[in-house]
Amino acid sequence: MSSTAEVRGALIVFEGCDHSGKTTQCKKLVAALNEKGIKTEAMRFPDRTTTIGKMIDGYLSNKCEIEDHSVHLLFSANRWEMVPKMKSMLEAGTTLIVDRYAFSGVAFTAAKEGFDMNWCKQPDVGLPKPDRVIYLTLSTEEAAARGTFGKERYEQTEFQQKVSTNFEKLKDPTWQEVEADKSIEDLHREILVITQNIIEESGHKPLQQLWS
Ligand code: TMP
Repeated sequence: MSSTAEVRGALIVFEGCDHSGKTTQCKKLVAALNEKGIKTEAMRFPDRTTTIGKMIDGYLSNKCEIEDHSVHLLFSANRWEMVPKMKSMLEAGTTLIVDRYAFSGVAFTAAKEGFDMNWCKQPDVGLPKPDRVIYLTLSTEEAAARGTFGKERYEQTEFQQKVSTNFEKLKDPTWQEVEADKSIEDLHREILVITQNIIEESGHKPLQQLWS
């Protein structure tokens, strides 16, 4: 059981289109913050290691079909099952760097036929609200230059364009857009400065609830 620290950790979420380098940047950031003595842990959604996560993994890798509403609720359940751990780590002063969160949940499901963004948000209402969402953006040309899509479900250009449009609709003042059209190291340096500021600003503020 973690104890309560004087200063809580920050909850920082990374969102962005495919090939924006989210996962690489999250890993480098966690290592750099820990090196600076800032207690930091990585998380990612979907977390494919849990029972729910394994069902999601089967769906994403096209090994099974799950009805669209049901899979949306599974993605959300996969976040809720981590909330006790997230809260106790944040309260113990650990900063969390999270690769995708409820915004991906909404942006991807709402890109499907017949889904309304408001309906998509509901299962995630009340999750811990990120102190900042770092939204990595990439021009269409640069995204294309970075390679083709993989074989997982949703990895198609037309679908990804709808997802990007949905991300634009989800932006609010807690979002910080960062252009990812630069080298891994340059982008890392920029993100490191941004996150250190967020960690300082968030430590004494209460954690809020998402979309409520
Ligand atoms: P990953 O490649 O970052 O592991 O993400 C897996 C895929 O799942 C990616 O295409 C985005 C999608 N996704 C959803 O559809 N809903 C969600 O809630 C999340 C977190 C991801």
